[in-house]
Amino acid sequence: MPTTTPSSATDLFTHALQHDNRANPYPYFARMRQQPVTRMDDGTWLVSGHHEITQLLRDPRISADRLNSNTQKGAPKSLLVLDPPRHDQLRRLVTQEFIPRITGMRDHIHDLVTHLLDAHTSQQPGQLDVVTDLAYPLPVTVICELLGVPRQDEPVFGSLARRLTRGLDPIGTQTAEELHELQQARIELIQYLEGLIEKRRTNPGDDLLSGLMFSQNPAGQMGPIDLRITLGLLLIAGHETTVNLIANGTLALLRNPDALTRLRTDPDLATPLVEEVLRYDPPVQMSGRSALADIDIAGTTIPKGARIRLMLAAGNRDAHRFPDPDRFIPDRPDNAHLGFGGGLHYCIGATLARTEAQIALTALARRLASPRLVTDPPPYRENAVLRGPEHLLVSFDRLTPDPRTA
Ligand code: HEM
Repeated sequence: MPTTTPSSATDLFTHALQHDNRANPYPYFARMRQQPVTRMDDGTWLVSGHHEITQLLRDPRISADRLNSNTQKGAPKSLLVLDPPRHDQLRRLVTQEFIPRITGMRDHIHDLVTHLLDAHTSQQPGQLDVVTDLAYPLPVTVICELLGVPRQDEPVFGSLARRLTRGLDPIGTQTAEELHELQQARIELIQYLEGLIEKRRTNPGDDLLSGLMFSQNPAGQMGPIDLRITLGLLLIAGHETTVNLIANGTLALLRNPDALTRLRTDPDLATPLVEEVLRYDPPVQMSGRSALADIDIAGTTIPKGARIRLMLAAGNRDAHRFPDPDRFIPDRPDNAHLGFGGGLHYCIGATLARTEAQIALTALARRLASPRLVTDPPPYRENAVLRGPEHLLVSFDRLTPDPRTA
């Protein structure tokens, strides 16, 4: 915390988002929760209480169009920022192609994790960068296979995705150069995705993109613009978030050696443990909405038309909902965290992300002998909304073989 402690909602929000505080924004979130619904100087409403966030996520008087962008009416939008009925139609099309493809992927994900870790068996003792060696390549490979995006194109779409995700951060936190890059990245991603769709048109496969393009059900087909936007959303959401779940989970395990020891011998712990990572250190820290009507909440009124910031990461540490909220409790019961949002826009990829993180964290716990953090805290990415380490160096004495193949 700085010597002059911030007090207004605007100050607290600004400090919480400063890169210097990226490793631990939670003390600022705690101060925000003293007023769970409050107005910032620019007119945006900051919501940080668990109860209030949950209530707003389910309120039909709230729009997902966070910019309340009347000026952009008619511009194509992804389902993330659309409201019913259009949102629900598009979401149905995506889920009916997405969900069947991810069931039964556990073994394949396990094989990918084994393969990624096996690349390091020759160094004993050794060192891993959990971000670049596991947490990033795993979800990228999985989402590419699912969508039908060539894995070898990663250098192209990976760099575009990194630049684009900075666009999710609040306006004003990016430099002029980053804003320029963002605009450029938008254009390049459109060109890349259109090229991909064109290729698939003449050469369909059994991937999700082909499924969306050639659905037999006429109601199941997507127009070309929706197709491109949805593909872009899934590609970016599919890896720019899960990387942080695996990295944040590794960090929590190495800072809580009891949890690490328990996970090593009790694979069933992986399920509640990943939920606790999603609560304690969520990869998506906040979301946005706007008010379609005056909304009375927490003794105040959010006026119609106002922009709203839902501070998911703050709600996740609300003592009114979670006992001892600043403690990482790997088998925490009744863990209704906000890590995947809630209501109509609840994350479509939740099951996939959970599976990848459960398998990756279990493998790290079981296979690395005496793992240690090389730098604590690790360096963090610039991004504030999709928050996570840039690198996560872990040294170890030995990397044991995968218990399945040993
Ligand atoms: C740890 C990983 C992930 C986290 C923490 C996460 C988090 C979230 C959150 C918080 C939302 C709600 C946003 C809002 O209400 O404004 C969301 C929505 C969404 N997520 Fe995820 N996500 C993850 C992984 C994935 C994956 C792997 C995919 C797909 C491949 C995915 C696809 C989506 C989509 C399409 C939506 C929009 C749903 C809608 O608007 O109806 N996510 N995610």
